[in-house]
Amino acid sequence: MLIPLELVELSAAEAAHEARVVAAIRAALDAAGGWLPFSRFMQLALYAPGLGYYAAGAHKLGPGGDYVTAPELSPVFARCLASQCAEVLATLGGGDILEVGAGSGALAVELLAELARQRQLPARYRILETSPELRARQQAALAVLSGALRARIDWLDRPPPTPFEGVVLANEVLDALPVERFRIRGGRVEARGVTWSGGRFEWAAGPADAALEAAVGALGVPLAEGYESELCAMLGAWLAAVTAPLGAGVALLVDYGLVRASYYEPGREGGTLACFHRQRCHHDPFVNIGLQDLTAWVDFTRVAEAGLAAGLAVAGYTTQAHFLLANGFERHVAALRSSLDAGREPVAAGAALRLVLPGDMGERFKCIALARRYQAPLAGFALRDFAATL
Ligand SMILES: C[S@@+](CC[C@H](N)C(=O)[O-])C[C@H]1O[C@@H](n2cnc3c(N)ncnc32)[C@H](O)[C@@H]1O
Repeated sequence: MLIPLELVELSAAEAAHEARVVAAIRAALDAAGGWLPFSRFMQLALYAPGLGYYAAGAHKLGPGGDYVTAPELSPVFARCLASQCAEVLATLGGGDILEVGAGSGALAVELLAELARQRQLPARYRILETSPELRARQQAALAVLSGALRARIDWLDRPPPTPFEGVVLANEVLDALPVERFRIRGGRVEARGVTWSGGRFEWAAGPADAALEAAVGALGVPLAEGYESELCAMLGAWLAAVTAPLGAGVALLVDYGLVRASYYEPGREGGTLACFHRQRCHHDPFVNIGLQDLTAWVDFTRVAEAGLAAGLAVAGYTTQAHFLLANGFERHVAALRSSLDAGREPVAAGAALRLVLPGDMGERFKCIALARRYQAPLAGFALRDFAATL
């Protein structure tokens, strides 16, 4: 449960780190003439080398961090995902898995262990991770696996240079890609960017931006005067890059998000940008800079369009609940329960249930499958497939 309201006070070391991140962003702001697009601010706050939230030492994921992701919450998430991967690998007669943005490594650990149990291991398990700090955590987490399993794993800074067949996985990565922020004003699209004023960063309208105006126009949704939201302009290039080496197989992307018509509906006029710090959720990106996560919900219609542009077909789109239930959720929960003692078993079962409860992660999170040279049906979309709503 995330607690809104008051912010957590920073330690002296955290405040000093924030001051360094602020100085780096201010230098970029000054070099750009006093105004930055929000996407540039978000890029620096999250990924500036050695400084940004994902590039430096913030604890980030897990109960002691800023937010908890599905693989952190329960091993059942990874085990269900493993069932889907096993099906694809079996259909292809083997292949690799490329996990993009592996966080603490929790997904990789459980996924590999389950694929070993199901006797459907990938030839290689490759992790594309841009954060040096998270890469080190992943290496420590994966040390629990046997030497034979660990020998299949390697880390990459960029997508593999040579083609492979198999699966591309990304859980909660799309929401961490920098977004543009915009507002409708006087019937036109206004870029909402960042300036420095009164000793802090502030929102500020930017110069007219034909590319942003065209991107908002291309959404094809009516937006009222004053409507403010965001769009992920870099999504197409990012998706094309991470799926480029996939010769045949499926990309499975899981995240919180909506189809476009819902994403930009009238009731959501404040957009979906959110900040996470020590299990608190708020909407001010200009505090705790470099120490808090910044995210925006995913427009899954944009993901589908980006997939088509990259030569992929939409092979399924459903809620996380339907995806997990169709991939043996109940069987995996039963197996987990039977492996635990009576004291831990109810807690573990309760955590697993959160993955599928409609009021928790079950409906907020969606799974989309994008396929290349892969025609077989995917078990995860057999219960419900909402691809027609994209
Ligand atoms: C919210 S965390 C999710 C981690 C993990 N997948 C999970 O579910 O627990 C986002 C992850 O994406 C990574 N990431 C962010 N931008 C990336 C990019 N452009 N390419 C690859 N990884 C990226 C981060 O370093 C981090 O590991």
